[in-house]
Amino acid sequence: MRIEMKLVRLNKFIADCGVASRRKADTLIEEGRVKVNDKITSELGFKINPTRDKVFVDGKQIAKLDKPVYIVFNKPKDCITTTKDEKGRTSVLDYVKVRDRIYPIGRLDRDTTGVLLLTTDGEFANHLMHPKHQIKKSYKVTLAEPMTPQIAALLSKGVKISGRQTEAAEVIIIPGTKNKEVGIIIHEGRNRQVRRMFEAQNYEIKKLERIAYGDVSIEGLKRGEWRYMTKKEIESFYKLEGL
Ligand code: URA
Repeated sequence: MRIEMKLVRLNKFIADCGVASRRKADTLIEEGRVKVNDKITSELGFKINPTRDKVFVDGKQIAKLDKPVYIVFNKPKDCITTTKDEKGRTSVLDYVKVRDRIYPIGRLDRDTTGVLLLTTDGEFANHLMHPKHQIKKSYKVTLAEPMTPQIAALLSKGVKISGRQTEAAEVIIIPGTKNKEVGIIIHEGRNRQVRRMFEAQNYEIKKLERIAYGDVSIEGLKRGEWRYMTKKEIESFYKLEGL
């Protein structure tokens, strides 16, 4: 009896090994940094047999991770999201010490605190970051000056940042805070979006905290603490088209 070997795309295999997202894997392939067995393979869409073929990236053999890891981290201030920093600043990896090579899903500014998801699963990260999925990100904003209902309404309709309108957001002034704390839920992930939305209305942000990413909330985690995501939390993202 002949056993059919399952072929997988080379970029998917690289992503499954936690080396890079599928898109970045394509770049690595195009740059001629990937070898299959003893041949450089710069053809996009190339398929391999993972049980038989050996794959090398920059000369190092890569292997599929046993089990993907999904983490939720409560990022403190003065901690940067990138995993490498030439200036030696404190990064997420100084807090989240695991054996596997993990990547943050999206980013938070150095001064922003709260939910940051990290994973070894490049495919999962890529999907969550794709703008088409419109994952909700919930923030608590502490302001120097009280928010007015008019500006809150404006922010929720959308304001221009860098010449482009932001999409509709949910904005509430949190009761009992002298109107200085505002909850905002956005579905996009433009660079420094929340800060820029408020700055565009001449509001100074004193503190910015992400309290949830999708259904994953910061509850129960102190600053600097992390935990593995629950099955339910991971599955909540599998409802997204294409995952
Ligand atoms: N919006 C910002 O302005 N900063 C963040 O870190 C996240 C969202």
